[in-house]
Amino acid sequence: MKYDIKVTKTNQSHISEVDFENLPFGRVFSDHMFIADYKNGVWGDLRIVPFDNIPTHPATSALHYGQSIFEGLKAFRNSNGEIQIFRPTKNLERLNLSAARMAMPALPQDLFMQALDTLVLLDQKWVPTSAGSSLYIRPFMFATDEYVGIKASDNYRFIIFTCPVQSYYSAPVKVLIADKHVRAFPGGTGEAKAAGNYAATLQPVQEARANGFDQILWTDGIEFKYLQEIGTMNVFLQIDGQILTPALNGCILNGITRNSILQLLADRGIVAIERNITVDELVEAHQKGTLEDAFGAGTAATISHISHIGYKGTTLTLPDIEGRTLSQELKQELEDIKHDRIPDRHGWVHKIAVNVLI
Ligand code: COI
Repeated sequence: MKYDIKVTKTNQSHISEVDFENLPFGRVFSDHMFIADYKNGVWGDLRIVPFDNIPTHPATSALHYGQSIFEGLKAFRNSNGEIQIFRPTKNLERLNLSAARMAMPALPQDLFMQALDTLVLLDQKWVPTSAGSSLYIRPFMFATDEYVGIKASDNYRFIIFTCPVQSYYSAPVKVLIADKHVRAFPGGTGEAKAAGNYAATLQPVQEARANGFDQILWTDGIEFKYLQEIGTMNVFLQIDGQILTPALNGCILNGITRNSILQLLADRGIVAIERNITVDELVEAHQKGTLEDAFGAGTAATISHISHIGYKGTTLTLPDIEGRTLSQELKQELEDIKHDRIPDRHGWVHKIAVNVLI
């Protein structure tokens, strides 16, 4: 189905003020954004407008009760100057899963894809070209009822804006294994990309940072025994030649980078093991010298190596990153697919017809 999207272009692009060689993650915003409003059971008033603040009623229900979800995906420029978005329909699938869990309406695929293509095409000059950079795309949906009282909202707003970015982590990551705080628990919202999941991690992460760590490697909230995810990334371990990652169990985000890595491993004939992984076996592998690699996988972070793991007052130092050949190769292979440097054998890349080749 083709939707009618009203486009109002900015008459004051600020692209010339942007230093594309120095892009702090998530702080530089492109010229336009897409907005849709959900009223009376339908998405309407589809529009692309200059990027700006959005007026907010003080009783906007998302602000009080947290009915708010988001996604993250990236667009890249290939060597022909064309723009390609990595696995956008997977993000929509997950957005709709998050929406269902949070009692919010689904977004039709045709609407999502048309909005995405129109917005990225309009702001095509914002897709960076330098190595390691991309256009980060942030779709999000929130409850807009102006009402004090706890109930699923009747009205919602869906927005997409974009940010040219470089890497999310500029260095290998130091993670602290959670033994006190909980991110997600069975039956909760852990696998949804709900704003509140991230809010709940902020104070513990502040504490971890004060102790020299970047992020928390979350564990199950009952025994603090099984690894879950890092919040910004899923986690992978390489122990004695085997690749392991926690099995999806409703508490862990079904990461699109995670899923892509599993496929790239399968393409190499490597079956990654998805199962419950205990903290004890991680620590034991480190003691025995068989913990060969640990890395996080996420859209913003791509593949980010873990250099240190803290647990109950001890810090495990992991092997040098240079020697971690498999994850280095996977990282390169993913980047090559995203930039059209090698064949896209799984049909992951969505190309947009551009008229400005940079
Ligand atoms: C992403 O990887 O896209 C996320 O949403 C995580 C956030 C840290 C930027």
